[in-house]
Amino acid sequence: MKTLITAFVTITMFAATQAAVAIDINNGKSLQQENCMGCHDDGVYSREDRRVTSSDALRAQVQRCETNLNLQWFPEDVDAVIEYLNTSFYKFQ
Ligand code: HEC
Repeated sequence: MKTLITAFVTITMFAATQAAVAIDINNGKSLQQENCMGCHDDGVYSREDRRVTSSDALRAQVQRCETNLNLQWFPEDVDAVIEYLNTSFYKFQ
């Protein structure tokens, strides 16, 4: 019985950890819509002469805009927005 409980607790803790680090694209989408459309709309991510051409550059640019706006996002918010932008527009591997 004790082993069973230990196993259950271990699995539950594992599931909770996984949920905490999972990247939430929908969160990224709402964050982007609420905070990032003031200067440019989302056309800037898909225009022909866009400046961001790698996933490193995408991360750097999202962090630059986020820092400039003093949004004080958590790292998982930054990750969520990057994931949303990459899935919807940039499509870097
Ligand atoms: C204060 C104005 C401002 C706000 C608000 C803003 N940005 Fe920007 N962003 C800029 C400017 C200026 C550029 C450069 C546009 C250009 O090169 O023509 C830019 C460009 C970008 C690019 C690169 C587009 C490309 O060419 O590939 C990304 C990605 C980006 N912003 C993400 C964000 C995100 C994410 C947010 C919200 C956290 C945000 N921006 C909010 C001013 C802003």
